[in-house]
Amino acid sequence: LSRTSRPAAAENMPRLPIYQQKERLVEAVRCNAFLVVTGETGSGKTTQLPQYLFQAGREGGKIGVTQPRRVAAITVAQRVSHEMGFTLGREVGYQVRFDDCTSKDTVIKYMTDGCMLREILADPGLTQYGVVILDEAHERSLNTDVLLGLMKKNHCRGGSHSRSSSLKVIVMSATLETEKLSAFFGRCPVFTIPGRTFPVSEQFCNLIGPKDIDGSGYVKEVVNMVLDVHTSETAGDILVFLTDQQRQIFQPPPAGVRKCVVATNIAATSLTISGIRYVVDSGFVKQLAHNSRVGMDVLEIVPISKSEAEQRAGRAGRTSEGKCFRIYGREFWEKYMPDYMVPEIQRTSLTSVILTLKCLGVHDVIRFPYLDAPEERFILSALKQLYQFDAIDRRGHVTELGRQMVQFPLPLGLTRVLLRAAALGCEELMLPIAAMLSVENVFIRPGHPEKQKEAETKHREIASDAGKNNDFTMMLSVFEKCKSSESPSSWCRENWIHWRAVKSAFSVESQLSEILLRIKQQRDFSTEEFEGSQSELFRQCLCSGYFTNVARRSIGKSFCTMDGHGSTVHIHPSSALFGEESQLDWIIFHDVLVTSRMYVRTVCPIRYEWVKDLLPKLHEVDAYELSNVAREEVTEEEVAKWESKEAFKRQMGDQCDSSI
Ligand code: CDP
Ligand code: MG
Repeated sequence: LSRTSRPAAAENMPRLPIYQQKERLVEAVRCNAFLVVTGETGSGKTTQLPQYLFQAGREGGKIGVTQPRRVAAITVAQRVSHEMGFTLGREVGYQVRFDDCTSKDTVIKYMTDGCMLREILADPGLTQYGVVILDEAHERSLNTDVLLGLMKKNHCRGGSHSRSSSLKVIVMSATLETEKLSAFFGRCPVFTIPGRTFPVSEQFCNLIGPKDIDGSGYVKEVVNMVLDVHTSETAGDILVFLTDQQRQIFQPPPAGVRKCVVATNIAATSLTISGIRYVVDSGFVKQLAHNSRVGMDVLEIVPISKSEAEQRAGRAGRTSEGKCFRIYGREFWEKYMPDYMVPEIQRTSLTSVILTLKCLGVHDVIRFPYLDAPEERFILSALKQLYQFDAIDRRGHVTELGRQMVQFPLPLGLTRVLLRAAALGCEELMLPIAAMLSVENVFIRPGHPEKQKEAETKHREIASDAGKNNDFTMMLSVFEKCKSSESPSSWCRENWIHWRAVKSAFSVESQLSEILLRIKQQRDFSTEEFEGSQSELFRQCLCSGYFTNVARRSIGKSFCTMDGHGSTVHIHPSSALFGEESQLDWIIFHDVLVTSRMYVRTVCPIRYEWVKDLLPKLHEVDAYELSNVAREEVTEEEVAKWESKEAFKRQMGDQCDSSI
């Protein structure tokens, strides 16, 4: 055992509400294949239960605990290894995308739900595990929802994965929807940890109203509210729920200083911050949602649900009586805040998840046991996209390419680009780009106008060194220049580039390159020759994954997308191509930002010939055909019928092409 010291925080643990339930809990896990555990935030579910099971003999295997959020997986693993007196990464470790801090000795493993899905791909029976704990189930993240379904399905199937029937599954949730979870797992027992909380008074301050529904004015009101609380309320720290990114929230403030934590809804349940007496609730959350106007997932600021608001208020009553100030009014609460949040599975793109399910042998992805089934049209559009990327064939079976694609923790289009580049022998150009697109934005935009000008000049210099105006090569250029400079960190400082972000891009690049190497070593990986310039090679590779994001210039500076939605988009001011619109014709783009206008970001000019043969794929399959694919195996006859129909469509398509 890697004990570094006497178990560190042991003296605090008996104070947690879960402590009295220790024996009963361990017994409940022993007696049930499925168990739902619920209790107030801070009662000790996440940090203590895995330790109890560890001490009780760990149910014959590793203990895996999933979290919807990376930050939670990492901080909780740190906390638990510290409490047990172990070195992080040995007996207690964590794994999140691009960061594996575990070893062969790891017994308690915290990980994101996405990582657990990946583990199931590699080992469907989860043979190394004795217990799997799906934590924060009430958040209803896409991956956790899929894991819930898989656990249920595998268990029903019993024998086919010999180990799965004795695997213990624990679902942990804040005090929401526990009955629904229990019913989903055949009315399994619900273990409730009695809470110990203090009353919280709730005030509707009515500072924003219906006209602020778009989320434009709330930040100012929140700031005023916080200043008010600070000047008029007695001692106690303030927790502010906004939609921005989390900062350093765990440091205790010096004596006589009030701490004010500004956090997203991560602080509602995933993390516990001590000392909070006041909560200021903006009423908004930033979440990923499928925008049908754009036809893709977009980050949007939307009102939170009533149950989320209750969770937020509850954070003020952890250590003493508290107060919650809601900047909105009763009318806003009644009219604009839904009772429950729509689960992610019902509002975002399912493409990666559906491919994962297919790779796990779940052919009928419509009748999979979802806790809340996504709308059929979302499943169909995921299948359609998988077909467009050649990840599945017409019968809905995963192709060789699909099996390669599922191994990358990246969006499918980007994976397609990487694999295409590897086939053409130019992956060293694309790996850095895939890595840079996987980390936070590397370009610093300082607030001060003069500094901002300086930063822009530096960035423009890098762009012009990169040769052609193109945001993808610009990223490549930053990556390469930084890597080859004598002191990468000072190079970043001089050029207004985030060193921390580029540093993680270096690490991501080498991990992606390992996955790619493994795939290339498989015997049936085929390669091709390319004739043409490096710039053409580069841009044609991009087209193989971004032909779903093609736009053509229409009137003035605007472009029109070619995905069937025909949306009008503009190039975002952060792009190297901003202001150059008049010289462009066809472009591809990485993502879309919706404000008053629709902006495309990370843009590259292309030629129509490069996407000409790919674009018809966007319209080739219709939903009706794919629903057959999804429901049952398609017969040869049907395929023949379909193919003749397609030949007809292709003819029609050619006629359309000549008119473009
Ligand atoms: O999962 P649940 O919300 O029931 O509680 P937990 O996350 O296991 O937290 C139990 C206690 O551990 C909290 O009351 C916190 O005081 C403490 N904790 C901490 O100090 N630092 C962490 N990173 C996690 C928990
Ligand atoms: Mg927890």
